[in-house]
Amino acid sequence: MTNLPKGVASSNAGVIAKRLGTVSGDRILDVATGKGTFIDTLMKTLKDYDSFVGIDYCPSATSREEMESAKKRFEGMPVRFFEMNAETLKFEDGSFDTVCISHSLHHLANIDMVLTEMKRVLRTCGNFILQEAYCDGDQTEAQKSERLQHEWGARIDSLLGITHNKTFTKQRIMNIVNSLELRELEVYDSTHSVDCLFCERKHECEDPKNQATYHDSIKEIDDAFREIENYPNLEIRNHLKDEGERIKETIAKSGAASASFLLIIGKT
Ligand SMILES: C[S@@+](CC[C@H](N)C(=O)[O-])C[C@H]1O[C@@H](n2cnc3c(N)ncnc32)[C@H](O)[C@@H]1O
Repeated sequence: MTNLPKGVASSNAGVIAKRLGTVSGDRILDVATGKGTFIDTLMKTLKDYDSFVGIDYCPSATSREEMESAKKRFEGMPVRFFEMNAETLKFEDGSFDTVCISHSLHHLANIDMVLTEMKRVLRTCGNFILQEAYCDGDQTEAQKSERLQHEWGARIDSLLGITHNKTFTKQRIMNIVNSLELRELEVYDSTHSVDCLFCERKHECEDPKNQATYHDSIKEIDDAFREIENYPNLEIRNHLKDEGERIKETIAKSGAASASFLLIIGKT
């Protein structure tokens, strides 16, 4: 890919895309799929695939709407979505050739149960792909302000009864990955997602203070304000609102950029 902005070009996004381009996904399960973003990524990058299944337990009205809109977006393609808890997957043993989970480990109430289920439904010698942002290491001021916003949002989700932990450290992610005992483990560390390679805004995003990113972040904070509007404890609500306003100021000053992440590929 030519004419990439410096940030994307110097990240491992291209290396990851090249590696995914060697993988035949065949029958793929995307666990905790949300709006199916990772299915999109894999469709663009994998060498080939047969079909996708995306599952999510859809804990809120918004997440149910997101799954419905994903169903429409992938209409006519070999992609199916199901509302399902990943702790008890309703699939036969070994029924997928590839299982993946993206940016969701820290959303899980019981990580061990989910990973055990993912391994159960993966065939012998199948591909396990895991992607997760981390909170430590060398991150820019823009990445740090996005982290602040994320941890604030995670607290709001938790208040509303939705599991959402703080972003994990790299070591914590690696401990989880090591517990999977995968073979041929490969770990890629990147500041930019593979999606950045295809993004129409990639040149604009080179400046973390660009208007589009700023407005997206402010909208996310305002959406979260609306989510806690009816939270009964006024003191907590006002405290979170004040903090949200301060995070808006930090984003205006430092910009916002996605956290660095690990992408891990292994085989069972
Ligand atoms: C950050 S979002 C999805 C991210 C998406 N995979 C991506 O890469 O953009 C995390 C998702 O985990 C889902 N989730 C959390 N616990 C789950 C569980 N036990 N079973 C299924 N989905 C779960 C949430 O509903 C949420 O949609």
